[in-house]
Amino acid sequence: MNSLNKIGVVGAGAMGQGIAQVCAAAGHEVLFNDVDLRAIERGIKSIGKNLDQAIAKGKLSPEGKQEIISRIKPATLQELCVDLVIEAVVEKLEVKQAIFSELEKVNPPSTIFASNTSSLSITSIGSRLSHPSRMVGLHFFNPAHLMKLVEVISGNETDQRLIEGLVRFVEELGKTPVVVKDSPGFIVNRVARHYYLESLKMLEQKAADIGTIDALLKSAGFKLGPFELMDLIGNDVNLEVSRLMYNAFDKTPRFKPNPIQEEKVRQGLLGKKTGQGYYHYEKK
Ligand SMILES: NC(=O)c1ccc[n+]([C@@H]2O[C@H](COP(=O)([O-])OP(=O)(O)OC[C@H]3O[C@@H](n4cnc5c(N)ncnc54)[C@H](O)[C@@H]3O)[C@@H](O)[C@H]2O)c1
Repeated sequence: MNSLNKIGVVGAGAMGQGIAQVCAAAGHEVLFNDVDLRAIERGIKSIGKNLDQAIAKGKLSPEGKQEIISRIKPATLQELCVDLVIEAVVEKLEVKQAIFSELEKVNPPSTIFASNTSSLSITSIGSRLSHPSRMVGLHFFNPAHLMKLVEVISGNETDQRLIEGLVRFVEELGKTPVVVKDSPGFIVNRVARHYYLESLKMLEQKAADIGTIDALLKSAGFKLGPFELMDLIGNDVNLEVSRLMYNAFDKTPRFKPNPIQEEKVRQGLLGKKTGQGYYHYEKK
């Protein structure tokens, strides 16, 4: 595998921002893309804020911040000729497939294509490519600049030699890679689905309220309660993952999306990113 110097990050939302930050902080040049130019601006601003917090904690110098920010450059999809692309756009198979088809036109066969998908099949995302062996999953967790775990997913067609190199790449980002199989939800999202869905069911059945469920699960050792976590993830993203997993598991009732989360999304109450979800958040 060639060395991975230049990284393309597609999608400047919650996940793309954190991924661009950790890649730039590890010394990589990052080309940052989004269909919405304002999302790139917002993304770079939010990376700046994260880095300010690191400065305040004495973990970074102001010059260090400038160096990291200067490595992140906005780019169009056509300009994204890189060693590794990490895609973090909406959780829709057709959108991800279309992006990688476009990127195949501007990149040599040696460029690795990685998706940050939470639940889609890596094999399906790569199925339209002329070189599907370059397709992998790199599943970062939210917030990506803080969370250590990265699931490294090998699809059916993935060239196995890439996996070893990507494990090293993830370690060099200061993260903990775990190689997993391409099955719906991989490991964490499959298990965690029930953390969300069972809590929603309890709320629906009026067995307990949101604050009580969150408080009790935190006191049982979880870092965030299920409703706090859903608000952090984004209720739209979380619902889409529930829907995809429900379909992937032949509509087995245990993965059925809950009407409460459908209603939140219908009302645009997406969580932290919109200022209101299960909780209210002050705009920064
Ligand atoms: N939110 C989480 O907690 C979380 C955690 C792990 C993985 N993921 C996965 O990461 C991906 C992104 O999730 P997110 O929470 O960052 O979403 P988000 O809604 O915050 O951001 C998505 C971004 O993609 C952009 N976009 C949409 N279509 C595009 C296109 N065709 N080309 C370029 N940009 C496009 C949007 O403008 C938006 O800025 C999804 O696949 C999601 O399942 C999310």
